[in-house]
Amino acid sequence: MTGQKIASICEQLDSSPTPRHLVDFISRQLLKAKFVDFTNKSINKSKSGFVVNAGSIVAWRTGTKTAENGFRIVGAHTDSPCLRIKQNPDDKKFGFNTLSVEIYGSPLLNSWLDRDLGIAGHVVTRSGETKLFDSHSPVARISQLAIHLDREVTEKGLVLDKQLHLTPSWSTERAAPSFAGWVAKTTKIKPIEIVHIEAQLYDTAKAAQVGVDSSLLASGRLDNQASCWAAISALLESSAGHATQVVALFDHEEVGSESATGAAGPFLEHSLEQIAASLDISRVGFLETLKKSSCISADNAHAVHPNYPERHDLANAPLINHGPALKLNSNQRYATSSKSAALFIAACKRAKVAHQVFISRNNLPCGTTIGPITATRLGIDTVDVGVPQLSMHSAREVCGVKDLLSLQLALKAFFK
Ligand code: CO
Repeated sequence: MTGQKIASICEQLDSSPTPRHLVDFISRQLLKAKFVDFTNKSINKSKSGFVVNAGSIVAWRTGTKTAENGFRIVGAHTDSPCLRIKQNPDDKKFGFNTLSVEIYGSPLLNSWLDRDLGIAGHVVTRSGETKLFDSHSPVARISQLAIHLDREVTEKGLVLDKQLHLTPSWSTERAAPSFAGWVAKTTKIKPIEIVHIEAQLYDTAKAAQVGVDSSLLASGRLDNQASCWAAISALLESSAGHATQVVALFDHEEVGSESATGAAGPFLEHSLEQIAASLDISRVGFLETLKKSSCISADNAHAVHPNYPERHDLANAPLINHGPALKLNSNQRYATSSKSAALFIAACKRAKVAHQVFISRNNLPCGTTIGPITATRLGIDTVDVGVPQLSMHSAREVCGVKDLLSLQLALKAFFK
């Protein structure tokens, strides 16, 4: 079972270089499990369904007594910091054909150097259709300057100019194809049919178990595709309960969530209201249902780095493979309340998994998550939790295998 779960995590990570690829991968899993796709039709009474909204998705399994028991929601985000290909990206420089990029979110820039990079994205055609594409092989590279030409790098640290030093090279041929030409060839769509291209770089290295005990999982996009996996697989493995089980995965968290499809937009609220309506719950009944609902916002946490323990408040510092972390912040950067904390602790207990606590140092303010945003929008009691990881926002991150499996079990217990 454990081996199967790890294989399914790795399959998801390797198949999902972009939020849209992730949502596509998850949609196919849901269809296989007989969830009804309501993306292009109005939600009607159904045991389980899902709605895709670009790089975001809401999936649910209807409860037997939703009006009395509310929604049990697990939220996470589908996007990760990366380098996006700009429009009109083609350039020629000193024997190389290069592509200009735009920084998405706040990646650890150095982590994108000297990697075998693939390119994935989607095109929109004249007829308004969207088609995904993926090079599947390394087609680009951003090379670091040799130490002989940058003698101070070890002592002074690497300083990268965001406009100049992150430009990938992708061929050395004089008559190289344009980026648009390459995309047309890759998607097998005539150039004239393609109206818009959205693309990004990704590390082609596959997800891998690391350590002599194979206890670590290394991959790109663990923040936050690890939580997406835990949420969706918990939903798929659950059976119907009294409450309606919901998984809401949002794009654009890494850039503040304020978009039509982000957590600050109306996507989840509208979906919940439509699900309630399909169950013949009135508008007033819906507002009552929200009061009985709860939400777990799952997003990775910072584990203690053995080389930098001073960056944590060691009394509230999560260790790798000691259980998912409950994230607290009095200033509401995390949504966890005393009531919602108790809810998660109870779920961990029922799942027989350990949990830990993360509270940041006062002089090192923590990030935030979709938790406070959902709590603010819907007024639903929300708890922020997450798998402890290292190298957050690197092109290749690492977390504990056991923590990820424990989070999945805790989410299943929450749904039950
Ligand atoms: Co995150």
